[in-house]
Amino acid sequence: MTVTDAPLDPQALRTRVAALLGRARARSAALIDAVDEADLVAQHSPLMSPLVWDLAHIGSQEELWLVRDVGGREPLRPEIDGMYDAFQHSRASRVELPLLTPPEARAYVAEVREKALDALGSSPLRGRRLVEHGFAFSMIVQHEQQHTETMLATHQLRAGPPVLHAPEPPSPVAPPGVAEVLVPAGPFTMGTDTEPWALDNERPAHRVQLPAFWIDTAPVTNGQYASFVDGGGYANPAHWSERGWAHVREAQLVAPQFWQRDADGSWWRRRFGVVEPVPPDEPVCHVCFFEAEAYAAWAGRRLPREAEWEKAARFDPATDRSRRYPWGDADPTPAQANLGQRHLQPAPVGAYPAGASPLGVHQLVGDVWEWTSSGWHPYPGFAVFPYPEYSQVFFGGDYRVLRGGSFGTDPSAIRSTFRNWDHPIRRQIFSGFRCARDAAPGDGV
Ligand code: AVJ
Ligand code: FE
Repeated sequence: MTVTDAPLDPQALRTRVAALLGRARARSAALIDAVDEADLVAQHSPLMSPLVWDLAHIGSQEELWLVRDVGGREPLRPEIDGMYDAFQHSRASRVELPLLTPPEARAYVAEVREKALDALGSSPLRGRRLVEHGFAFSMIVQHEQQHTETMLATHQLRAGPPVLHAPEPPSPVAPPGVAEVLVPAGPFTMGTDTEPWALDNERPAHRVQLPAFWIDTAPVTNGQYASFVDGGGYANPAHWSERGWAHVREAQLVAPQFWQRDADGSWWRRRFGVVEPVPPDEPVCHVCFFEAEAYAAWAGRRLPREAEWEKAARFDPATDRSRRYPWGDADPTPAQANLGQRHLQPAPVGAYPAGASPLGVHQLVGDVWEWTSSGWHPYPGFAVFPYPEYSQVFFGGDYRVLRGGSFGTDPSAIRSTFRNWDHPIRRQIFSGFRCARDAAPGDGV
């Protein structure tokens, strides 16, 4: 059963939405409960909020949209609104605020949730665009799950022994038979008008005409990336853009974040408190846009454009239709994609043949967010919904688009139309990439 199947009756929709809210809260709670109070209020990195800020901010957004707006209730704690407004306080400065203590934050989010569930029970879930098909509730589920991924990135930056545990990802069963595939020239439908829980920046659906191009059937692996590093890639300006080279020098980057080389030259990494050899067949993670761009240049290739990524992930040449996911229209299963923190790392290339696209491109959804060469811009006909601070205020800024979600992205917060963005220097996120190249005459196109 997918969200685009025949409209659910309001009661079935309420049950579905309540389950998604519950799942989001179970994950937030597990990330919060894994550490002690001192740890919850600490600043683990100036790039991240204290974990207790994320928790109360999750509650604050839920209160604004579900309790006050949809529910029409009075504010619970209007005096804290400003403290949990991401635009008023930088991540680096949130530790200085008189934040709710961990017990206060836990009580606050529980009270908000109770009232949000009341609002769910009494909303007709139709008649007003904000609640149509449960949109506001899904928006809040997605918001909470975006912050669970952010909290997971904070966990990765924490010092100390491991506190999070998960089974290893599946082993490769059927690696892609070829390294790259040709995506034929022609138009495809990008974005969506029909996905009820798509966010404003994924709309509207529009036809995009692309020349033929080649795209890798898998993300670039640690082993491939290590060849670039070991071959002196970080010391040779020829591979880097001007900005990338300035950044790599200034920030003294020598390898992906969390990697370290031992005395005999082999690579190790720290992953959620465990130090282990870097697995060569796993997609590389924790690289910034500039590193991705430099690797691609070194390999004689380039990053895909955002539209190219989406065509590879959605276009079905047999029907000339764009799918919701690479494998079809049904929601993700554990056999198709590495999502939702089920594993605490990307899976090796070839672990998800059931998730491949019709053109044979693997692991587009899950594992690692994939950098594209595109900046953050609205689609033609974009309209803010329901508020400008989610997407619109960032359009045209110094961002690059990332696609596909990571092992830390919940299934409710990803689809092949989903668009993420970040500054090109960021790499504490679960970011990797795949390469592409132009098709040449004679490629059979
Ligand atoms: C879409 C991932 C860039 O985390 O900054 C969370 C999502 N917006 N709260 C972010 C978001 C408001 C956003 N990204
Ligand atoms: Fe937020």
